[in-house]
Amino acid sequence: MSKSIGDALTIASAALGNDPSDRRDAALLLGHATGLSHSQLIARPETLICAQQHKQLQELIEQRRLGQPMAYLLGTKAFWDLDFKVTPDTLIPRPETELLIEIILSQPHTGPKTLIDLGTGSGIIAATIAQARPDWSVIATDESFDALRVAQHNGAGMRNLNFVAGNWLTCFGGVTFDIIVANPPYIDALDAHLPALVYEPRSALVSEDDGFRDLKGIIHQSTALLADSGYLLLEHGYTQQAAVTREMALAGYESTAYSDLADNPRAVMGYRKEAS
Ligand SMILES: C[S@@+](CC[C@H](N)C(=O)[O-])C[C@H]1O[C@@H](n2cnc3c(N)ncnc32)[C@H](O)[C@@H]1O
Repeated sequence: MSKSIGDALTIASAALGNDPSDRRDAALLLGHATGLSHSQLIARPETLICAQQHKQLQELIEQRRLGQPMAYLLGTKAFWDLDFKVTPDTLIPRPETELLIEIILSQPHTGPKTLIDLGTGSGIIAATIAQARPDWSVIATDESFDALRVAQHNGAGMRNLNFVAGNWLTCFGGVTFDIIVANPPYIDALDAHLPALVYEPRSALVSEDDGFRDLKGIIHQSTALLADSGYLLLEHGYTQQAAVTREMALAGYESTAYSDLADNPRAVMGYRKEAS
């Protein structure tokens, strides 16, 4: 028998647990299954949904109960001022990564720049900057072809944004960049938080050498490719700032450290001493 929107929502919320966040998730999944907006769902609770929509809703609710992240079920996640397609091939964008955008956009805007986003994932950093700075030339790169396809979808139509597959900076000999930015994998393989992140690609999360291999690799590779007055900007874990700052110094950079809105140490910018 057909169900009304109101009944479907009540059943779905109860199946998830009936907390306010469960009711919100149920409404989002119902909207996804029916193609109706939140206001349409609220305004017309008596509207009947068809059997196929109901079946899809039940499948989504079951996956949510099993722990599948909402972003993967809905296929999108908001970041800065855009909605990004995300898939299980990409990390789910985190709000703390917006700190990198804030730092880049708050630097004095002195004409066109070249920027490379290493490990672009769904393309959030590259596409956000490409849209905010149309006179800049932006490259998004990742070693995962599947992630890069998602980033290409998200950056479609941005004429100042190009995509390159590769291992960090290894395929960029002979060029320099004004800005090198990365949110690389930085979680230790033994970190207690990892089991909660089982749906996201391990290659986007975990780095060898206690979480430091990729951070250190990027710092040292960047020295040959950073323009004299340019900067390297890295996101890192909240316990890693002192070590990242030390590694920047070993590579010959001065650095500035940043914390996110929750006051967690979260990013370091490195630049050449002459440029300070
Ligand atoms: C923490 S995720 C960041 C994704 C995206 N930039 C964000 O902030 O949401 C790290 C990304 O680095 C990529 N990656 C891991 N190792 C890499 C390597 N050696 N070279 C290039 N990209 C790599 C992963 O595929 C993943 O997309």
